[in-house]
Amino acid sequence: MNRKSFFTVTLIAMAAASSAQVNSKFQSKLDKQAKDMEQQVIDWRRHFHQYPELSNQENKTSAYIVEHLKTLGLKIQTGVAKTGVVALLETGKPGPVIALRADIDALPVTERNSLPFASKEIATYNGQQTGVMHACGHDSHIAILMAVAEILSKDKSDLKGTVKFIFQPAEEGAPVGEEGGADLMVKEGVLENPKVDVIFGLHIQSMTPVGNIAYRPAGMMAASDWFSIKVKGKQAHGAAPWMSIDPIVVSAQIITGLQTIISRQSELTKEAAVITVGRIQAGIRENIIPEEANFAGTIRTLDKGMQDKIHEKIKLTATKIAESAGATAEVSIERKTPITFNDPELTAKMLPSLKKAAGENHVIEVHAVTGAEDFAFYQQKVPGLFFFVGAMPAGIDPANAPSHHTPDFLIDESGFITGLKAMLDVTTGYMFMKK
Ligand code: NI
Repeated sequence: MNRKSFFTVTLIAMAAASSAQVNSKFQSKLDKQAKDMEQQVIDWRRHFHQYPELSNQENKTSAYIVEHLKTLGLKIQTGVAKTGVVALLETGKPGPVIALRADIDALPVTERNSLPFASKEIATYNGQQTGVMHACGHDSHIAILMAVAEILSKDKSDLKGTVKFIFQPAEEGAPVGEEGGADLMVKEGVLENPKVDVIFGLHIQSMTPVGNIAYRPAGMMAASDWFSIKVKGKQAHGAAPWMSIDPIVVSAQIITGLQTIISRQSELTKEAAVITVGRIQAGIRENIIPEEANFAGTIRTLDKGMQDKIHEKIKLTATKIAESAGATAEVSIERKTPITFNDPELTAKMLPSLKKAAGENHVIEVHAVTGAEDFAFYQQKVPGLFFFVGAMPAGIDPANAPSHHTPDFLIDESGFITGLKAMLDVTTGYMFMKK
């Protein structure tokens, strides 16, 4: 962040501190309601944890969510982006349309925890039998948003505008050959009718201490793009390389060249960036130089300008290195997930609400994460804020806390209330903010 934008953001934050006008009586009512629902959130989460479902197959999960939402008198839409659920809370009073999103899918991971509500579910994934587990904590996201829906429905007369609750399938990625997730929800019009002004989302974090909220303005999580490169040379006997154009040596040069795009050509003081080659395939036998080599990898970026530039440089580096050897390189790059970009102005404005929820010293600005999150698709269309909620039990070294997507993944349920309060506070904070 440059000096000027630092001061701008600071000034906005100072102005915002006085403009989030939720009256104190309503605030204490919200706090009490959150506390009263804490055990219910835990119980719901345990239910979802015990019965996880893979991406685009969240049928029982959706049905359970709908059953609850029906008791709240909300306008409910089902089957959005396959198994998604969208519910509308209309106050009848003019005001902003605020969307709140929870992702609802689990992962092909076999749980190793000995919790009484540990998952015993089994499914077939990519032709393999596997356990299914909420190994990323989306179970807690569902439970928290169900509670937010209940509390705000009860407080409807205190509110204005519209709240749109989005229970989104397939954040972890749709099965091969299928569409799904936030991308499909946006395509199916989830941000329209009524048109959404702002969107908030959270992610529970097994390596962030309980009670803390972690956030970052601008690029919070990386864009994930995939690339593949086909190098074509000329086949020959391995004993006579001068008869060949060796695609393996050319590929090795290209792979090294790609790393210099990061180390020599990217402005790393601005944002981090990553190029990883994760797959390489060439040849069939020791003494045959093959005609072709193929390799593929992932690109992670946190700044749109850097992302576009890195894509161009990958093409340039690969084709020109190949050309220098008399080979050809065919490059294809697929944009998978955009940057999870927290609108800086919105982030500064919502900071007081996050601090209200977690306490002044428990809202921490963190480094960017090079993992990706499909909440980014919503943020491409409307300003949005995505933040992390700590659920690492006290006394654990973050370095040893079981990470997301692993069989030992574990979250401390006492962290949920911070997430619940944060969702309530950013919603009401934005709703009553003076423009
Ligand atoms: Ni996740």
